[in-house]
Parts: sequence; C-alpha cells; structure tokens
Amino acid sequence: MYLRVLGSAAGGGFPQWNCNCPNCDGLRRGTVRAQARTQSSIALSANGIDWLLVNASPDILTQIRQTPLLQPARAIRDSGIAAVLLMDAQIDHVTGLLMLRESKAALPLLATPEVIADVSEGFPITRILSHYCGVQLHPLSCNAADIQVPGVDGLELTVVSLSSKPPPYSPFRECPRPGDNIGLIAHAGPGTPRLFYAPGLAEVTPQLHALMAECDIVLVDGTFWTADEMQQLGLSHKSAFDTGHLPQSGAGGMIEHLQRLPQRTRKLLIHINNTNPILNEDSAERALLQKLGIEVACDGMEIVF
Ligand code: MLT
Ligand code: MN
Ligand code: ZN
Repeated sequence: MYLRVLGSAAGGGFPQWNCNCPNCDGLRRGTVRAQARTQSSIALSANGIDWLLVNASPDILTQIRQTPLLQPARAIRDSGIAAVLLMDAQIDHVTGLLMLRESKAALPLLATPEVIADVSEGFPITRILSHYCGVQLHPLSCNAADIQVPGVDGLELTVVSLSSKPPPYSPFRECPRPGDNIGLIAHAGPGTPRLFYAPGLAEVTPQLHALMAECDIVLVDGTFWTADEMQQLGLSHKSAFDTGHLPQSGAGGMIEHLQRLPQRTRKLLIHINNTNPILNEDSAERALLQKLGIEVACDGMEIVF
C-alpha cells in the first residue's frame, strides 16, 4: 500500500496568506527553520497507479503538479486519481473538488450522507459540479468495514465515526452528528498492515484507542499544540475544542494517547495549523515530539506499508 501526503497543513496552509504569527512571519523572513505546507490531503493506492484522493484541498492543483505519479499519461485526458473520499465537509477538505471539474467522467465521490448533505446544500459543490463533470455518489455508512473503492483495486477501508465538528457553514456546527467527521482504517486485505487516518479528531475514546492500537501507522490530527493557542496569539476567541480538534500537549492531549499505543506503532501528526510551534524545527515542542518518536507529516512524504 502506498500513501502520499499531498498537504499537511490545516485550513489556511503555512504560511497563511494574511498571517504574521511567529511561524508565518518567521518562515517568510527566513528566521524560522520550517517547511511551507499546503492544506491537508493524502492519496492512497494499492498498486501505485490508481489512487484514492482523501480530501480535496483548495491546493489540489499545486499538489498534483508536485506529484508526477498522479499523472500516468495513458490518454490525452487522464489522471491517476480514480476516486475522491471526504473525511468531513470542511472548506480545506472539499473545495478542491471544484478544481477537478474537467474530469472526463463523473467523479466517484465517497462520503457519509451528512457530508454529502453539506457539500450539496450549505456549500453546494455537487450541484455546481453537475454542470461540469458531475459526481457519482458512493454514500459511506459509519462503522462499515471492508469497503471497496471503485477504480482503486486492492484497497479496503473501514469507516470510523469520530467526535469532532462539522464546518462553520453546516447547520449542525454546534450539534455534531456521527458521520460529520470520520476516521479511516486502510489496508490491502486481512492480515496486512493497517493505517489509521483522522485529520480532524476532538476526542480519543477508549473504543477509538483500541482501534488505533490495532493499526501499524497512526496519522492523526496535529492542528494545535495547546487548546488556547489561537487565543494566546490574539487570532481567535475559539479554543481547539471549539473547532473540533484535540490539542497535543497537556493532560488528555494527543501526545498522551499516542504514547499509550504499542511501541511498534508509527505515529504521525498531520493537518498542522500554522500557529503550531511544532512547525518550527528548532522548537522545544518539536524536540519533545522527536524524543517521543512522534513524526510531523510534511508535503510529499511517502509511506509504503
Ligand atoms: C478546521 O479543520 O478546523 C479547518 O481547517 C478550518 C478551516 O478550514 O478554516
Ligand atoms: Mn481543517
Ligand atoms: Zn500564522
């Protein structure tokens, strides 16, 4: 199984267009050692030719240009992207669908009914795309296993319903439902290595922890280091939890949960907000992650499992 990190930043990317927080400003000035990042998306493939795009970031066209293996050039119009799956309906995860409108066939789109409703009504992407390539909807049930992806042979998925938040434009922002945010377990079949992926995750329940502990690679929400990171910088009144993200540090934080996983589990953070001190490669926070064996995903990262 092949995994490509196409984008590893949260909404806004890094640096964010209008942000002068220490990270964004430091990266632009060259005073902070850090790597620029595009908005959160990964691609999965069992054969290295046919890919499932997991989330369609507003940066998708740049990401595709930076990933030649997504263009196998078998025909005058072609793409290695055989289908798209949405983990939620957040702007940073769905807007790229509009950039794929030149698709020569209806885009196979896998998402829960809750996410399909948000991208059909509040942000009517599927309705807009019906005037271009159209979408071929494949509704996903929460907690369904052994899901096959059309056009991506050899990839099997399990959908896990997660506690997080639907997007601000959703009528359900303040009363999330199962299906607004999902996690994925991906593998090539029974007995093969398993990936757990969850870029938006507010709570690791004992049941979820047990599922994560059965996986070989855990790639999870790395949005914020502290719950009040945005508030401390004067950038927002909202805490990490208000926006559906579990911060890494502190009691009950993501680091604690990752440390309780088996030693052999490969642990990585993704969907990193531009304010997060772990982006600064010389920070104490980054050094702590390194000491604990927790990796920070970056654009272009390849994982073979
Ligand atoms: C989030 O996950 O909370 C988003 O990145 C917010 C956004 O897209 O603005
Ligand atoms: Mn996001
Ligand atoms: Zn910033």
